[in-house]
Amino acid sequence: MLPPILQNLRIPVVASPMFIVSGPDLVIAQCKAGIVGSFPALNAREKDGDPIQLEAWLTRINEELDRHNQSNPDHPAAPFAVNQIVHRSNARLERDIEICHRYKVPIWITSLGARTEVNAAAHDCGGIALHDIINNVFAKKAVEKGADGLIAVAAGAGGHAGPLSPFALVQEIREWFDGPLLLSGAIATGGAVLAAQAMGADLAYIGSPFIATTEAHAPQEYKQMIVQSGAMDIVTSSLFTGVSGNYLAPSIRNAGMDPANLETADASSMNFGGDSKPKAWSTIWGSGQGIGAVKDVVPAATRIDQLAAEYAAAKDRLAHL
Ligand SMILES: Cc1cc2nc3c(=O)[nH]c(=O)nc-3n(C[C@H](O)[C@H](O)[C@H](O)COP(=O)(O)O)c2cc1C
Repeated sequence: MLPPILQNLRIPVVASPMFIVSGPDLVIAQCKAGIVGSFPALNAREKDGDPIQLEAWLTRINEELDRHNQSNPDHPAAPFAVNQIVHRSNARLERDIEICHRYKVPIWITSLGARTEVNAAAHDCGGIALHDIINNVFAKKAVEKGADGLIAVAAGAGGHAGPLSPFALVQEIREWFDGPLLLSGAIATGGAVLAAQAMGADLAYIGSPFIATTEAHAPQEYKQMIVQSGAMDIVTSSLFTGVSGNYLAPSIRNAGMDPANLETADASSMNFGGDSKPKAWSTIWGSGQGIGAVKDVVPAATRIDQLAAEYAAAKDRLAHL
């Protein structure tokens, strides 16, 4: 049984948080269209001395979704989620947890580290905590530390993808875990959302297709590259963050590097402490393998309408097998 906060979505989809790309415009559009929208807390950055951006974003999201719910009592917005990077180099973590607790963020997504205090803060303000993992060992650790649900990040996902097949990963987790399970990795159609459920997941976790939306905080060239690329254009490299991640090969070529001959970097170079990316890498763009399904840049609501129509059609098709 899913926790009430994850029930009653229009389709069983959580939009994943994406560094730089996800901000309040995208989150509000996703929630109004009936799926969970999310953003990384680290995307809300202010200059020294300026008002705290994370507070401003949470205020705006809460106000706009409240307004929407008052005018659309029959189609209330889905809840939103905030992602915390639980890594020792994230110097803002404590401050951001305090803010999210004060604003009663309903869904907390944690990555790169499972910590009991973060889960406890989510629970204390009435929220739930979902932790992303790439294998069964990390999954068990996350649940031991108090996560309510798991996000299985399988092969082909954008960002820090895992190496495992989604079939293997979901199967191993479902042997011992019957709580909320989200699956991610190259899910880009309504049929793939239904396939995730058929495998044993409760919800699909979708990122890259939302880069090619009008509300995404990304340069036009990035959005167009998503539209023009397919699975063969995605390369896996640890060079840019210290952890294996998936990137658009054309963006690597445009930056003067050969995507087929990239050096490796080790995990000790991971740094979420500030603007750590070298300038030359600011145009290296991340993406999962599912983007062959993305044919145009559209408002997020249009992408979600399409996913919903495909999901219904896939259900209908299977019912007649
Ligand atoms: C450009 C980009 C940035 C990402 N940034 C983050 C992040 O800051 N935090 C996080 O937990 N996951 C991040 N992810 C991973 C996503 O949350 C999610 O696992 C992934 O998008 C799912 O795969 P898909 O893109 O194939 O749908 C990012 C993914 C992409 C494509």
